[in-house]
Amino acid sequence: KSIADLGDLSGKKVLIRCDLNVPLDGETITDDGRIRASVPTLKALLDAGAGVIVMAHLGRPKGQVNPKFSLAPAAARLGELLGVEVKLADDVVGDSAQQLASALQAGEVMMLQNVRYEPAEESKDEAERAELAKKYAGLGADVFVSDGFGVVHRKQASVYDVAKLLPNAAGLLVEKEVQVLKQLTTETKNPYVVVLGGSKVSDKLKVIDNLLKTADTLVIGGGMLFTFLKANGHEVGTSLLEEDQVETCRNYLAEAEKLGKEIILPTDVVVAPEFKADAPPTVCAADEMPSDQMGLDIGPESATAFANVIRTAHTVFWNGPMGVFEMAAFANGTREVAEALTKVDGLSVVGGGDSASAVRALGFADDDFGHISTGGGASLEYLEGKELPGLAVLDAN
Ligand code: 3PG
Repeated sequence: KSIADLGDLSGKKVLIRCDLNVPLDGETITDDGRIRASVPTLKALLDAGAGVIVMAHLGRPKGQVNPKFSLAPAAARLGELLGVEVKLADDVVGDSAQQLASALQAGEVMMLQNVRYEPAEESKDEAERAELAKKYAGLGADVFVSDGFGVVHRKQASVYDVAKLLPNAAGLLVEKEVQVLKQLTTETKNPYVVVLGGSKVSDKLKVIDNLLKTADTLVIGGGMLFTFLKANGHEVGTSLLEEDQVETCRNYLAEAEKLGKEIILPTDVVVAPEFKADAPPTVCAADEMPSDQMGLDIGPESATAFANVIRTAHTVFWNGPMGVFEMAAFANGTREVAEALTKVDGLSVVGGGDSASAVRALGFADDDFGHISTGGGASLEYLEGKELPGLAVLDAN
């Protein structure tokens, strides 16, 4: 169901889960993409005459109140974007939240403090979560809207349990994300190329399993590439390496060959003696990495080769930076891949918080790409073919 199916919302209180988990430098938001992505649904609810109670998390405070994880910067930025004050409660479901909620008028927005300050939010105990969900709903909410796509893979009180207690619907962001990711699983135009980066292979195991079936070509960069290079019999110096995944990577390479799929690894890498912005970079062949250097980016030859494969595809999904893009000397691979994605004649999807932040930090605009997903883990789990609890619960109701 979408928000249009919730009927007349005028004068109603809408409880909404958003994903406002943005990167911060102190109290400064360094990428407000997730907040901007939450605006259309919130505007639609306000235009419909609702009063809106926003639930969100920031970071992983693990059930402890910790000002470092306050939603204050997110509430302020959201207020600027909406053009209305967003009143932030001092607590999650305590006196402050209850007072703000009972005074909430049509056209007003309030936000609960970080829901992960409450230990029950992420509890494995269903009864504990249900108890907290009752308190969320008990803030006077008439309906629940699920719009935090980045958390729909989490079985948590504000994402999953609360949806069982109220009439509910998916917000515009969740609808759009699901529609695009569905295209990647059911309506792909070939060639379908998937570019994977980021630091760990172990985070991507299941998705690689599934993508070997659906994609034509897998392009591997980022920290995880060194485990693949090792699986191919190469030494990787002091680079990031997951020894316990070498065998798995070897199996992937063999499986790809059996299926007639291609896994493309870099032929050259940028190395440096240490993980530092001013460490002197050199380029070397991927099969000749010096033992005292670490790989921090794919090399220029590989960046060009990756870009050529991407540009000629009709469907591309990219998750994970190619190198340490935050340091200028190691940003070239990520930049070239992003640039190539902007030229795709077909559907290009950037998935994952890090890749989204990377393309924005490198000066690309959101509409240079077909879609920038707000979900990291959520988009990967969707592509794994897993059932996402935060979506399944909406369908079930
Ligand atoms: C994310 O950053 O991917 C989402 O906000 C989910 O956060 P989590 O991985 O801490 O649950």
